[in-house]
Amino acid sequence: MLVKLAVLFSGNGSNLENILNRLHQKTIGSNTYEVVLCLCNKKDAFGIQRAKKFGLESVIVDHKDYKSREEFDEILVQKIKESGADLAILAGFMRILSPIFTKNIKAINLHPSLLPLFKGANAIKESFESDMKVAGVSVHWVNEELDGGKIITQKAFEKKNLSFEDFEAKIHALEHEILPLSVIEIFESKVNLPK
Ligand code: GRF
Repeated sequence: MLVKLAVLFSGNGSNLENILNRLHQKTIGSNTYEVVLCLCNKKDAFGIQRAKKFGLESVIVDHKDYKSREEFDEILVQKIKESGADLAILAGFMRILSPIFTKNIKAINLHPSLLPLFKGANAIKESFESDMKVAGVSVHWVNEELDGGKIITQKAFEKKNLSFEDFEAKIHALEHEILPLSVIEIFESKVNLPK
């Protein structure tokens, strides 16, 4: 099957670039993957340049142009539906989504902690500073609860005496590992769709 993907991002875009490197126009198992939409809510995001290297123009939908979260989400839903994407991937997309989005779009999110711990925007710092001995990353289905949907994939590591910089680098390396793998697993039907 041809699997069409929409990738939503807000900034650096290293996970977007990783998806493009690992999945875009690649046949893996019984599926061929195509990123049909790169969507960003910030016009200066570095990820826009990363997408260009693959010949992809990002669609910019600036949340500041909309009066409410719902109006912004309506446009997101429209753009994703128009693209024909089978799945939306939130890869560093730093917006809280309303039911307008979550009820209409099948989406997964990447989060830099072992959920359900350390939800929200400061997960890396909070998990580094906690007295837990392990940390990790998660990919989960998106539902109406922030960072709260069913977990698809997780990977953990021992914190040992890592500096904050090394800790953060480890988190990003693991994110790059598990996000494309989660997408492949979903379409190889190794992962159950959420109810
Ligand atoms: C990742 O750490 C992701 O988990 C978080 O935002 C970061 C995005 O990084 N939600 P990048 O823009 O893909 O480099």
